[in-house]
Amino acid sequence: MPAADSLEAAIAVVTAEPRLHARWLNTFSYLEYVGFRKIVKSQRAETVDSELLTHALEEGRHALGLKKLAVKLGGEEFEAYAPELLLCGDEAEAYFQNLDAGCDALFAHLPDAQRAKVVYCYVTWLIERRALDVYGRYKVALGTSPLASRIAGLLMEEEKHLADINREIAKADPEFQTRAPELEALEKRLYETFLGQLSAELQASRPRASA
Ligand SMILES: [Fe+2]
Ligand SMILES: [Fe+2]
Repeated sequence: MPAADSLEAAIAVVTAEPRLHARWLNTFSYLEYVGFRKIVKSQRAETVDSELLTHALEEGRHALGLKKLAVKLGGEEFEAYAPELLLCGDEAEAYFQNLDAGCDALFAHLPDAQRAKVVYCYVTWLIERRALDVYGRYKVALGTSPLASRIAGLLMEEEKHLADINREIAKADPEFQTRAPELEALEKRLYETFLGQLSAELQASRPRASA
């Protein structure tokens, strides 16, 4: 099944069952939190500017907003990021960490400060594009639900992050045009691995969800 179809099938299963839906929201909250943490930790303080701070804080706000939605839908226990309150939480984090490590390995020859900047640019560029695709399909599936307008707000900020990084990335790496396809392929592989794991988990959850 093409990745877009697998994602849409997963969204249909998740949104039909409140607890699965709360776990889905909590998982995206967790990924936003990991993104926030990575942005903050990846740069040396002397290079942090207002754009980077804004990006980090907006990802932190996305984590909080999605967390509140998970709690609203699933109850107080969703305050935590415990594994049973996520959907493939370890696998989702592995997607993120492996992407970061893959980008980092490609620029291992650069001095630390320059590598930190270029890796931040590539990871952000790849993740924002994926976030727009996933959140975009999720929003469409939500239809006229009040949740859809919350996701629309989040999408607007992710679009701005992508526009910002599109301006930065060519400056950070003069070889961006020739290097981009290799990193896009890496991200696509990691995403499809995660999607396969998510689909398998949802398949396994089904009998329990309807019990
Ligand atoms: Fe975000
Ligand atoms: Fe973002």
